[in-house]
Amino acid sequence: MSNDLDFVIRHADVVTASDRFSCDIGIREGRVAMLGQGLPRAPRELDASGMLVLPGGVDAHCHLDQPMPDGLRMADDFFTGTRSAICGGTTTVIPFAAQEKGQSLQAAVDDYHRRAEGRALIDYGFHLIVADPTPHVLAEELPRLIANGYTSFKVYMTYDDLKLNDREMLDVLTVAREHGALVMVHAENSDCIGWLTERLLGKGLHAPHAHALARPAVVEREATHRAIAFAELVDVPILIVHVSGADAIEQIRWGQSRGLPILAETCPQYLYLTAADLGRDGYEGAKCVCSPPPRDPANQQAVWKALRQGVFSIVSSDHAPFSYDDPQGKKPGGKEVSFEHIPNGIPGLETRLPLLFDGVRKGQLSLHQFVDLTSLRPAKLYGLYPRKGTIAVGADADIVVWDPEKRVTIANEALHHAVDYTPYEGIEVTGWPRHCLSRGEVIVEDGKLVAAQAGRGRFLPAGKPCLD
Ligand code: URP
Ligand code: ZN
Ligand code: ZN
Repeated sequence: MSNDLDFVIRHADVVTASDRFSCDIGIREGRVAMLGQGLPRAPRELDASGMLVLPGGVDAHCHLDQPMPDGLRMADDFFTGTRSAICGGTTTVIPFAAQEKGQSLQAAVDDYHRRAEGRALIDYGFHLIVADPTPHVLAEELPRLIANGYTSFKVYMTYDDLKLNDREMLDVLTVAREHGALVMVHAENSDCIGWLTERLLGKGLHAPHAHALARPAVVEREATHRAIAFAELVDVPILIVHVSGADAIEQIRWGQSRGLPILAETCPQYLYLTAADLGRDGYEGAKCVCSPPPRDPANQQAVWKALRQGVFSIVSSDHAPFSYDDPQGKKPGGKEVSFEHIPNGIPGLETRLPLLFDGVRKGQLSLHQFVDLTSLRPAKLYGLYPRKGTIAVGADADIVVWDPEKRVTIANEALHHAVDYTPYEGIEVTGWPRHCLSRGEVIVEDGKLVAAQAGRGRFLPAGKPCLD
């Protein structure tokens, strides 16, 4: 192996989750090979003066080309989704291989590999979604998949086609404990939602705004508490995903204060949107229909505060891409449907980092917390560290040269996903990625996508979750 460098980033103001230092970064064969002053010249160089140099983002909760019930289709596949991710500074994604009821988990994983291969532009891992924990799945498939690099899985407490009952939840948590996996929990009480939905429909309430009324905070709070109780009973860590506001946060704090290993994730939609956005003109509110729904400004502040105080481990996008003017998207069959039939989820891969970074600028959290929440901790929790999540000798050269002063008014026409809208249209942020490298290759240069080779992204088998 030659000792020559392939690439040098000069005058880098490097920020990791714990440190800030000035140096040149030498890259060889896709990895960081040297950090130091005055590194030898390389065939390719880049001057990062005036910029921040950050580890590439790890988006540990996004949905790409996930098989959908008949008539629905996600707008982003692995190519358009990962293209959008890296244009927003994210260099690793972890979407979900979702088991359908009656399907083997291995079949779901095999199918998902076929969807990713030849399409992904950046590296990716898989979480599993366990929707049918049969004795065979619990005793054979899950342990084998965990050993083969699928060390995290999501379980749902709502959605008829995905939800587990309490006993099934306990069974899945037990496998996670025995084999060292991390369970992600979608915590909303399904029966409460069904009961409320019927009452709302009975009153003639069909508009998108009723989605928020059908899933109030108490519904999330109850399920969050129940999931925490299960984790205590089984004695296993869990991670509550897409936490929307103060009620669920209170439960998580309560669990953490008892010394339980309760981890939590939130998403930009709970910092920037409110339930009022679901009431946008006409059917436009469908653009913000996701679960749990965004709450109100007081809840937004509660989420910012909990981020500052370390209640949350990660911030993910929960990118779930359904186009608005699409008969397979937000208008199933080409119609404006009653709220309970609107596909849940909103796009956000590309806007995740800029929206959160704007909070750094406004004093809501520190720069190191920003890197921790969006890169280091997701890499650690999902078994990808130290290859991903930091800038260090030996790590993959997934690096973002970030312009902290660039002002951007978010507009869908400038984004790189295949969705026909962004819920954040018109929001102004300061800070945007300028250059993005994936394994030492410049994919985004001066804010423009310059290399878009579908299939260059590699699958990352995950190691065991690291909770430190
Ligand atoms: O509404 C949402 N969050 N859709 C995506 C699926 C999920 O539950 O994360
Ligand atoms: Zn969910
Ligand atoms: Zn999700």
